Amino acid sequence: MPKPREPFETRIEGFTHDGRGVTRVDGKVWFIEGALPEEKVVVRPIRGKRSYSLGIAESILEPSPSRVTPRCGAFGICGGCVLQHLEYPEQLRFKKENVVENLKGAGVKVPENILELQAEPWSYRRRARLGARLVPKKGGVLVGFRERNKSFITPLSSCPVIHPSVDRVLIKIKELISQLSIPDRIPQIEVAAGENGTALVFRHLLPLTEGDRTKLREFGAQEQLLIYTQAKGPETATPIDAGTTPELFYRLEAFDLDISFSVTHFIQVNGAVNELIVELAVDWLATDNDSQVLDLFCGLGNFSLALARRAERILGVEGDTSLVKKAQENAAANKVENARFEARDLFSDTVADWDPGKFSHVLVDPPRSGAIEALKTICTKVLPDALAYVSCNPATLARDAAYLTGPGGYQLTRLAVADMFPHTAHVESAALFVRCT
Ligand SMILES: C[S@@+](CC[C@H](N)C(=O)[O-])C[C@H]1O[C@@H](n2cnc3c(N)ncnc32)[C@H](O)[C@@H]1O
Repeated sequence: MPKPREPFETRIEGFTHDGRGVTRVDGKVWFIEGALPEEKVVVRPIRGKRSYSLGIAESILEPSPSRVTPRCGAFGICGGCVLQHLEYPEQLRFKKENVVENLKGAGVKVPENILELQAEPWSYRRRARLGARLVPKKGGVLVGFRERNKSFITPLSSCPVIHPSVDRVLIKIKELISQLSIPDRIPQIEVAAGENGTALVFRHLLPLTEGDRTKLREFGAQEQLLIYTQAKGPETATPIDAGTTPELFYRLEAFDLDISFSVTHFIQVNGAVNELIVELAVDWLATDNDSQVLDLFCGLGNFSLALARRAERILGVEGDTSLVKKAQENAAANKVENARFEARDLFSDTVADWDPGKFSHVLVDPPRSGAIEALKTICTKVLPDALAYVSCNPATLARDAAYLTGPGGYQLTRLAVADMFPHTAHVESAALFVRCT
């Protein structure tokens, strides 16, 4: 047994779902950051717990054939990416395994062919939250993502996964904040990139001076960015040039839709992969002019409006009233007349008493916690012919799939894994369930 804090050599046996190597030493499990399966590494212990210990791969003695040099200099420190050292095709294989293991572990029969959806793996993040902090002993203002497992900010001068319009100004943002009157009171900058521009939302904990506003305005004009300030919650985000700042939108070309969004609204992080998933869900559900579709957790209408192009009518349900309003506006702006949207808390106890009426097709795209409460209502009252489930968490997908394919009375017929977040351990997947006759 190695003494605490003393580096030791080991062979990596497995890989966790969050991208750490796994090894066993004297019966104790170790999770090793930066190590890949089958590699021989020198481990530097960092923490010991009762049932497992944590370490970092200090050097790689025998590298895996799948190891590649990370593109980003901050890899290993920055919490944004954890898989850049694994060659890209292997990343998707690893994510696919994650989904399959979760489903099998929950006793769900998995289809043989699993589709893989992927697009450009770099420069894809159109939505992000950057942290900022004034740390004089580290040279001033730091701007970047949080460090892995820590609250420190990783100072980034460039980022290969963020949208290029933001990557090119990372250093300039840091310089800009340094020149404001409150460089220690700007904790975060939200990033939102649309087809018609990129917005930066500066959260400020104290009022900005007129001089600060002028500097922000000039920065926006010079860098061709839309600048917003945010004094309190997301609803307080305000364009510095109200009146001339356009609302951002993204396009779903296959459905001739322009979807507008507010800078702090939820939108799918990766535009290209989002288009692929929307097209896949519409294709799988195979709706026609007689179809009646229910879209749960519909956000600003991403799936609903696409499905509305191929259905008689659609009802989108969403918890955030500002997103419901935006979905209604998006329907009107795109001349979609067969879509209705309503606000409802799909996790509350009242979902059990809710009867949405009859729908031939359902789509669910819940947050990480899954959709079990709503699915019970769907399987007892709505009884659609087909249900497409878009998931950002394989564990809750597996739990919900076990319900659907058990008491729910459905069969899992199609499965896809989509790389919405390349180089991170986040896994997006889609599953089609068809009612057993
Ligand atoms: C993964 S997002 C999907 C959004 C949308 N389908 C899209 O593609 O843009 C999950 C959505 O669930 C919504 N949500 C979270 N909690 C909810 C709740 N308790 N009831 C209803 N909707 C909720 C969020 O506001 C968010 O819009």
